[in-house]
Amino acid sequence: MKTNLMDSVDFTENVPTEASSDSILSDTPRPNASAFAQSPPPSGDKTPELTSGVSTRCVHGGEARQKSEGSITTPIYSASTFTFESTDELLDFVEGRQSREEYGRYGNPNERVVEAKLAALEGAEDAILYSSGMAAIVGLLMTKLSAGDEIVFFDQCYHRSREFCSKHLARFGVVTRQVRTGDFDAMEAAINPRTKTLVSESPTNPHLTCVDLEKFAAIGKAYEIETLIDATLATPLNLKPIDFGVDYVLHSATKYLGGHNDLLAGVICGRKELLDPVRGLRGCLGSVNSPHNLSLLERGLKTFALRMARHNENGMAVATFLENHPRVDRVYYPGLASHPSHAIAREQMNGFGGLITFTVKDADWKQTAKVVDAARIARIAPSLGGVESLIEQPLVMSYFSYSPEDRAKFGIADNMIRFSCGIEDSDDLIADLDQALAAV
Ligand SMILES: Cc1ncc(COP(=O)(O)O)c(C=O)c1O
Repeated sequence: MKTNLMDSVDFTENVPTEASSDSILSDTPRPNASAFAQSPPPSGDKTPELTSGVSTRCVHGGEARQKSEGSITTPIYSASTFTFESTDELLDFVEGRQSREEYGRYGNPNERVVEAKLAALEGAEDAILYSSGMAAIVGLLMTKLSAGDEIVFFDQCYHRSREFCSKHLARFGVVTRQVRTGDFDAMEAAINPRTKTLVSESPTNPHLTCVDLEKFAAIGKAYEIETLIDATLATPLNLKPIDFGVDYVLHSATKYLGGHNDLLAGVICGRKELLDPVRGLRGCLGSVNSPHNLSLLERGLKTFALRMARHNENGMAVATFLENHPRVDRVYYPGLASHPSHAIAREQMNGFGGLITFTVKDADWKQTAKVVDAARIARIAPSLGGVESLIEQPLVMSYFSYSPEDRAKFGIADNMIRFSCGIEDSDDLIADLDQALAAV
C-alpha cells in the first residue's frame, strides 16, 4: 500500500482569518477575490507548524488559529450578503485590491474554511464545495464541456452520474461514450479530437471495481484530455488520485466526509488554475451550501480519520464473514483476494472502505428482500458512509424502473444486496447479518 497519508501539506494555507477581515479597513493593496481562497493568513495569525498527519489536518486544517471572540469552533456566518463601508471600499474590491466576501452565492467564510480543510486532506491546491455530489458533477462537466465536445466514461458508476451524462448532456450537444470499466483499450479507441473529459469512479458503485489510476491519468496526459475520478467510496484517507496525476477528484461529501447521514454536500478538488472557471460557473448555478450545513460538515470532518479507520475495519471484517457464509454466493469488496480489483486496490489504496455488495445464494428478488427486511441494526435506506449501517437491494432501491435487460447490462442482479458498514461494533453487524441470512 502507498503510505501517502503523511504527505506534508501546509494546512495553514487558504485560511480566512479574523485578521483578514480587519484588513478590509486598511489601504494595503489586496489580491483579487478569486485569489482569496489561496491567501495565506497574516503572519501574526499563523497556525504553528504541526505535524501534518491526516487526523491533525482533519481537526485543524483550513482553520484560523484565533477566531472571532476566541471561539474554538468556526462561528456560523449566517449572512446572505456582506456589507461595504463605502463606495471606496467597494471599488477596492471590484478593482481587485481587496479580497473579501461579497454575496453568499459566491462564497462565505464557513465555506472557505471547509474548502481549505478538504484541500488539505486531499493534498490539492484548491477545493470547491457544492450543495450535493451530483451538483458537483454537473458543475464540473457543465464548465468543461460545450456542444460538439465528447466525454468518455467507465460504465460502472452511480446511476445518476450515468443518467446526467448520457441523457442530459446529450441535450446540449455533448456526445457521451461509455466503455467497460477498466478496459483502457476501449477507452483509447473511444477517444477522438473532440474528447475533452475522461471520467471514472474508483472504487465503483456498487461493484467496488478499482481503476488503475496511473494508466487512467497517463491516457489523459497522452491525449491532453482532462481526467476526473469520483473517489466518494474511497475518501482521501484511502486514496489520493492527485498523486497518480488525475486532474479532478470528486466526492459526494454526503457520505464519509460528512459521515453522520445528516447533510448533503459535494466537493471537487484539483489545481486552482483548472478550478477557477468551475468556481465561476458555480456562482451562476447557485448550487452552494448554507453556512449551517457547512458548519455540520466541518464538525463531521473533525472525526473523519477516526471514523474512516473504523469503517475500513468493519468493512474488512463483515466482507470476510460474508465470503465464508453458506447462504452467500459472491462478495464484492476490494479488500478480499477474491475481488478482481484486489491487486490494484492493494497497490493504490490505504484501506478498502465500508461498502460491501453481495449476492444471496439461490435467492430470487423477493427472497433477497426478506434478508434486507430481517436486518435489525442496519436501516433500509439509500446512501452510505454514515455512522449508521445501511442496507439496500439495488434492484428495488435504484434500478426498479430499469428493464431486466438494462439491469443485466449494468450488472445489477436480482439477489444483490449493498451493505454500508457504519461504525457500530463489527461483531454486532456480523451477528445481525447472520440472523438476517437465516431468513431465507
Ligand atoms: C459514487 C457516488 N458519486 C456521487 C453521488 C452523488 O452524491 P449526492 O447524493 O451527494 O448528490 C453518489 C450518491 O450516492 C455516489 O454514490
